[in-house]
Amino acid sequence: MKLLVCGGAGFIGSNFVRQRLREHGDEITVLDKLTYAGRRENLHDVLDEIRFVHGAIEDPAAVAHCATAAEAIVNFAAETHVDRSITGPEAFIVTNMQGTHVLLQTARDSGLRYVQVSTDEVYGSIESGSFTEASPLAPSSPYSATKTGADLLVSSYFHTYGLPTVICRGSNNYGPYQYPEKLIPLMVLNALAGDHLPVYGDGRQVRNWLFVEDFARGIGHALEHGQPGEVYNCGGPDECENIDVVRRIVELTGAEESQIEYVTDRPGHDRRYSLSCEKLGRLGWRACTSFDEGLERTVNWYRENIWWWEPIRTGEYLDYYKRHYGRALKG
Ligand code: NAD
Ligand code: DAU
Repeated sequence: MKLLVCGGAGFIGSNFVRQRLREHGDEITVLDKLTYAGRRENLHDVLDEIRFVHGAIEDPAAVAHCATAAEAIVNFAAETHVDRSITGPEAFIVTNMQGTHVLLQTARDSGLRYVQVSTDEVYGSIESGSFTEASPLAPSSPYSATKTGADLLVSSYFHTYGLPTVICRGSNNYGPYQYPEKLIPLMVLNALAGDHLPVYGDGRQVRNWLFVEDFARGIGHALEHGQPGEVYNCGGPDECENIDVVRRIVELTGAEESQIEYVTDRPGHDRRYSLSCEKLGRLGWRACTSFDEGLERTVNWYRENIWWWEPIRTGEYLDYYKRHYGRALKG
């Protein structure tokens, strides 16, 4: 298949590109703005097998230029960190909403299929049970509100213009190439460096962890087998309280429990996410990687790929870290 992958230099996008090349032999153009989270290093082993274009999804000319050879657009491009959306929501509105609109308009003009990569956060928090695709949308943060707005735009292009769209909503991903502002890579790198492990609030919030290769395969499955106009939830096999995730990382890295430090909670913090994934299951997808197995693989990957993360833990990241946690990193 000929794919335009937007945001393909980020965490999930780069895993998707690698998987589609290896398992499907797709012809891929990546369009990426290379924000702090997007890096050519994420595609280091496949750069000569793809066409890479440095540009923004909110730029209609850049998108039209990339779309010429494609059959479908798969959109990963987004501002993705909830904490950053609380301190600076503007970039989220531009990329997540305006950018998605430019992609939809281009897909319509060029007659392309369209896959929107979305999130369980559009449903908001749930105390017990799981959200289905028919659950009401109730986002809580500027991040999830802009992702919800994007999903609604996508649906409107199906209903109004008949654009063949699919939305795939994932739960919390983890695995290789994830920027260390997110819980798991942040804790792994701080644990290895002997630094503090900052747990928000009481640490009892629950996330439904999905290994990135399973999500990438779920998105590919929705692209190939999804019905136009439909939404598919794609959740992980295991849920876990944050404090238990951190304790497992302490064990796997040989760090000390005393490194764990409870810090001020995130404003408007969602307590629990949970997805029912029967609909995508009926199309033949299931998550294959347990949290225990995936976490061990992830810790090993960060141990073995210092070249990848060492350059990140400087400059912008250190400034962000100090502003956000009110203290500098040790190592
Ligand atoms: P990420 O932050 O690692 O990567 C985002 C990528 O988008 C980067 O390469 C960045 O440079 C690029 N980008 C940002 N703004 C852009 C713009 N205006 N134009 C072009 N490129 C731009 O994110 P991720 O964790 O890989 O998430 C990818 C997608 O999956 C997002 O849409 C996110 O909402 C969704 N999602 C993420 C998770 C998760 O747990 N990480 C779970 C479910 C869904
Ligand atoms: O659920 C899917 C979403 O998962 C994606 O749509 C988002 O793009 C992605 O960032 C992620 O959002 P979360 O807010 O759940 O992920 P994060 O890694 O930021 O935090 C996971 C949990 O850990 C959350 O309850 C907050 C907590 N946390 C996070 C950090 C960074 C801490 O306790 N300490 C921390 O330092």
